[in-house]
Amino acid sequence: MNRYGLIGFPLTHSFSQRYFSEKFSREGIANSQYDLFEMPDVTALPKLFTLPNLRGLNVTIPHKQAVLPYLDRLDAAAEKIGAVNVIKLEADGTKTGYNSDYYGFRQSLTDWLTTLGRSPDDLKALVLGTGGASKAVTVALQDLGIPYQFVSRTKTDGYLTYDEVESVLPAYHLLINGSPIGTYPKTDQAPALPYSQISHQHLLYDLVYNPAETLFMKRGLEQGAAVHNGLRMLELQAEKAWEIWQS
Ligand SMILES: NC(=O)c1ccc[n+]([C@@H]2O[C@H](COP(=O)([O-])OP(=O)(O)OC[C@H]3O[C@@H](n4cnc5c(N)ncnc54)[C@H](OP(=O)(O)O)[C@@H]3O)[C@@H](O)[C@H]2O)c1
Repeated sequence: MNRYGLIGFPLTHSFSQRYFSEKFSREGIANSQYDLFEMPDVTALPKLFTLPNLRGLNVTIPHKQAVLPYLDRLDAAAEKIGAVNVIKLEADGTKTGYNSDYYGFRQSLTDWLTTLGRSPDDLKALVLGTGGASKAVTVALQDLGIPYQFVSRTKTDGYLTYDEVESVLPAYHLLINGSPIGTYPKTDQAPALPYSQISHQHLLYDLVYNPAETLFMKRGLEQGAAVHNGLRMLELQAEKAWEIWQS
């Protein structure tokens, strides 16, 4: 039996467990099992690594950075981001960390731009929020050659505040919500943007996937912008994790 699973705390509902359990049965992948390993303290990780036939782990809050000292290697994107959400255990015991959010975002953005007939070369991005997800987004933007600015609630060197967005909006057409604002059940909330200044040239990408159409997206649609939610990124990051574990 090949074992896979998710570590984090608390683990109440898990997209990954449902995704992989359904994948195993749909694709007839035998001898594979995906479990939740609720882990309040990351110091329990070395013991979990000794579980027989453990091939791979997903990592979620609060351990995405804390797992780094327990790994032997990081792939290039995970190294730049400084956070890992996929661990691969090799037959020789080597443990490598990856960031599949990076791949999920990058691929979903590239596919969307192709569908829209828009080139990354003509875009500059505003990334709302400065947490782990936004970090993965900005490394992907960097690798795609899309210049970006972070937008934060807190005035910090190099970051724009929400009050400063209006003046740059005409030059930044890709707006990415990397904050949790608008997530169910607080669906009546949206990032504090000057929505009336958004035009049909703007592209609004929300990392939030529940609800499928967030208030951020609705407000963009009202202004004629193109919108995208976070579901495809979520699916692609799970697929990438599987590809990593099988490679
Ligand atoms: N679709 C996917 O595959 C995928 C993958 C990863 C994450 N996500 C989603 O992306 C979002 C962010 O994830 P994360 O782990 O980076 O979350 P996080 O660390 O909790 O928050 C990200 C940033 O959002 C800003 N923020 C937090 N609360 C806010 C509020 N009340 N109002 C305005 N800004 C706020 C903060 O930046 P400042 O303090 O600088 O403003 C914070 O650093 C979540 O909704 C998560 O579900 C989706």
